[in-house]
Amino acid sequence: MGLAIKETAYLGWWFVRARFFGRRKPLQTVLFITDACNLSCRHCAIYNHKDPVMKSYEKVREELEYSYREGSRFVDFEGGEPMIWREGDKDINSLIALAKEIGFYSCTVTTNAQLPLKGLKADSVWVSMDGVGAMHDDIRGEGAFAKMEKNVAESGLKGVSVNMTINKRNCEDVERAVEYVKNNPHLEQISFSFHTPYAGTEGLKLDWEERGKIVERLIVLKKGGAPIMNSLSGLRLLKDNKFKKHCWVSNFILHDGTRFAECTGKAAGVCEECGFGMAGEMSSVFAFKPDTLMAGMKLRVR
Ligand SMILES: C[S@@+](CC[C@H](N)C(=O)[O-])C[C@H]1O[C@@H](n2cnc3c(N)ncnc32)[C@H](O)[C@@H]1O
Repeated sequence: MGLAIKETAYLGWWFVRARFFGRRKPLQTVLFITDACNLSCRHCAIYNHKDPVMKSYEKVREELEYSYREGSRFVDFEGGEPMIWREGDKDINSLIALAKEIGFYSCTVTTNAQLPLKGLKADSVWVSMDGVGAMHDDIRGEGAFAKMEKNVAESGLKGVSVNMTINKRNCEDVERAVEYVKNNPHLEQISFSFHTPYAGTEGLKLDWEERGKIVERLIVLKKGGAPIMNSLSGLRLLKDNKFKKHCWVSNFILHDGTRFAECTGKAAGVCEECGFGMAGEMSSVFAFKPDTLMAGMKLRVR
């Protein structure tokens, strides 16, 4: 879905104010609508099976309105598992409609695809895939890959993207994952992040030498035409993480309602070891790297 002239102008205006006048206001909101999940992934520090929170529709409205007032125009519904969210007869599509009514340009849903995706009205759907077949299941639980594959195939959605978080267990599966996406007609592209060692998941972290070698492998794949969303400039930055972060581009609102003006990684003390691919992309955007700007445009202007 392409952006209208007014929306493109807002993006330009936002960028100029941020890049040249130092204004630090979000463009994207990462909104956690629940911490309930139907999986227990090895690398995740969020899911809560004991006393999960499901935000009310009105709470989500309040948080969307707040984020919009702050300047945000893109929202990523996160969890837990956002496809689980319900209130009476309302579901995730009701939240997407609400965001659009408030004025958000585009809604993303990041999902494990364990529930049917048919009819999902998000502008972008990111399915998490942490390897192919047994490797994905090793991280996400038995049967998760088959369910994900089936739900994606039956979704009827165009341009579904995949996100793989690379860690100590699945790092040898990177090339297979790229091949899988390339050969799956329902999938458009794959983005890569590295494991970020939130408390309790430190054991999955790669050391810098391993991480650097994997980045080199990703660069070779990308140069060979693989459908990798990360730009070359953004990928290079992930090697040693020594780049200027612009993580205030997204505000985060957690399942318990806590509002952060930037990525939660800072409060958790994990920025030094952050693996989020988008951190590298954002830094490259602010450095005017043409390949990253193009990758960003491709994401936003469909
Ligand atoms: C927390 S999940 C929630 C949404 C949904 N349940 C899913 O699995 O996609 C969102 C994304 O964060 C990634 N993720 C979870 N823990 C991570 C970590 N420690 N470091 C980097 N990415 C992580 C997941 O792999 C997934 O792609």
